[in-house]
Amino acid sequence: MKTIAIVSSVGGAGRTTLTTALAGLLAAREHVALAAECDPRNVLALHFGLRENAREGLVTHLAGGPGAGDAWSRAALQSDDGVLVLPWGSLADGHASDDPRDDDASALLDARPGWLRELLARVDLPAQTIALVDAGTWPSAHARQAIDAADLVLGVLTPCATACATLPRLIAALVRAQKRSVFVANAVVPARQLHMDVVALLRARLGAAMLPYLVHADTGVPAALAAGENFCLSAPSSQAAHDLHGIASWLSHWSTGASLDAPDELLAQHVARGSTP
Ligand SMILES: Nc1ncnc2c1ncn2[C@@H]1O[C@H](COP(=O)(O)OP(=O)(O)OP(=O)(O)O)[C@@H](O)[C@H]1O
Ligand SMILES: [Mg+2]
Repeated sequence: MKTIAIVSSVGGAGRTTLTTALAGLLAAREHVALAAECDPRNVLALHFGLRENAREGLVTHLAGGPGAGDAWSRAALQSDDGVLVLPWGSLADGHASDDPRDDDASALLDARPGWLRELLARVDLPAQTIALVDAGTWPSAHARQAIDAADLVLGVLTPCATACATLPRLIAALVRAQKRSVFVANAVVPARQLHMDVVALLRARLGAAMLPYLVHADTGVPAALAAGENFCLSAPSSQAAHDLHGIASWLSHWSTGASLDAPDELLAQHVARGSTP
């Protein structure tokens, strides 16, 4: 199994949207696709059309300790588009605590580095499975677990100043973790000069680590979420669906070990230069 962590250094960048859409597109390409949520928001199942928050999930296993056995697999759901979905779940029942950190299990995650990597290594799925992990906003205990578990990190960038300002620290952390990383800009409006300027800057700084695709902004994306629909199926001819197909195709090739650009060195050079995109 190949694991891809979907990461961003700002909230609302589109991590869950991309995790959901890409998992559906990879499943349509005959991959076994697993979408796992390492984010206490616990909304991944909602993006796959489930109307209620998932109660069981990865956190159920985490809180249960070694005796929890295959509790996580009981929590797995099958989406209409053929994706195996592992929500984060909830600790709300029976874990009342005055410590707010317990609500999102950060303390448990920090106490068990490598927990998600080890859990995914035990998942009994075919070798060609692609696991997409929707990570909590970096930096966080959840994002660290997702990055640690990843064979590839897909960084999601919004064309805004905050994303640019926080990117160097994220890149430095990925280089330290020795993770192969690629980036994609999401929710881009080409008519906005600022968006295109930021994308050009990111391309210049990140080189081949910036995928040759960007995902255009489309009002159909939040509308599909509200309607419980799969965006790429409900608007197959849209530019954004076309963009997502391009990224899914790149990931599919990468997972088969096809020779693609090696962005790691470029990232390392970026850190060495100490440059800020
Ligand atoms: N390409 C896009 N075009 C238009 N809207 C988008 C696009 N991508 C994401 N959105 C919308 O932006 C919002 C945030 O997206 P999403 O929840 O996927 O981000 P996130 O990074 O997972 O956020 P969070 O930090 O809350 O987990 C959602 O309402 C989503 O529908
Ligand atoms: Mg999210």
